[in-house]
Amino acid sequence: MTEAVASDQPLLEIEDVYAGYGGGDVLRGVSFIVPQGGVTCVVGPNGAGKSTLLAAISGVLSIRTGDIRLRGRSIVGKTPRQILSEGVVQVPQNHSLFPEMSVQANVEIGGFILRDRALVQRRLEQLQDSFPLVRERANAKAGSLSGGQQRLVEFARCLMLDPALVILDEPSMGLDPKTRRTVFDSIRLMHQQGRTLLLVEQNARAGLRLSTQGIVLETGRVRLSGTGDEVLNHPEIGELYLGGAKVGS
Ligand SMILES: Nc1ncnc2c1ncn2[C@@H]1O[C@H](COP(=O)(O)OP(=O)(O)O)[C@@H](O)[C@H]1O
Ligand SMILES: [Mg+2]
Repeated sequence: MTEAVASDQPLLEIEDVYAGYGGGDVLRGVSFIVPQGGVTCVVGPNGAGKSTLLAAISGVLSIRTGDIRLRGRSIVGKTPRQILSEGVVQVPQNHSLFPEMSVQANVEIGGFILRDRALVQRRLEQLQDSFPLVRERANAKAGSLSGGQQRLVEFARCLMLDPALVILDEPSMGLDPKTRRTVFDSIRLMHQQGRTLLLVEQNARAGLRLSTQGIVLETGRVRLSGTGDEVLNHPEIGELYLGGAKVGS
C-alpha cells in the first residue's frame, strides 16, 4: 500500500525554486503548491518567468536550487521524458501540431509512449466524445484547422496519456473572443472530468475566473496567491494586471 496517497496531498509542490539561462536567475525563490483536482492559473507581466517556470516543471530547464515534488517525490534531475512518463504533460505556448498530418494521427501521437495499441484506441474514442472535432475532422490535415480548433486538438493529444497534471502555456493566445471562450470551456470540461490543471494566461481575468487558485508571478517571484476570486478581486492586482479587460472577454 505504499502507493496509496492521501487525497489531500498536493499533486505538485514547488519549493524555493531558482532557475535561469546562465545570465542570472529568472526564477528567484518560487514556491507554491498545485492541489489535486484544481485549476491553478499563473498570471503576471511578460517576462515574469511564467514559461520558465513551466519549463522547470517539465524538466526542460534544470533548476539551480530548490525542489519540485510530484506526489511528494522530487522530480528534480529527471529527464523531460521521465517526467512525461510520470504523467506531467504540457501544451506549449506555440502551436505544435504536425500540419501535414491528419487530426487523428496528431492525437494518436500523444500516446506515443504507450505500448498498448488497444489502450490508445480506447483513449482515442473517449477523447472523440469529449472533443467531437477530433471525430468530425479526423481525416482533415491539422494545418487546415483554425487556430482555436488546433488548440482543442492539442488538448486531446495531451490527454492521450491520461495525465496526472496538464500544463497549458497561454492556451488562449492569438484567438478571437468567441474561439477563446471555446478554449476556456474545454479547460472547464477537463476540470469537471477531474483533471488537475496548471495554466499560464495573459487573459488573466478569464483565466482566474475558471481557476480554483491564482498565482501572480512578478520578476521571478510569487507576488500574491489565493483563490482565483481573491486574486481577481485584489485591488492592486486588478489595477496592475487585469486592466480594463472585461470579464469573459
Ligand atoms: N531560452 C532562453 N534563453 C535565455 N533567456 C530566456 C530564454 N527564455 C526566456 N528567457 C528570458 O527569461 C525571462 C523570462 O521569460 P519567460 O519565462 O518566457 O517569461 P513569461 O513567460 O512570463 O513571459 C525573460 O527575460 C526572457 O528574456
Ligand atoms: Mg511565456
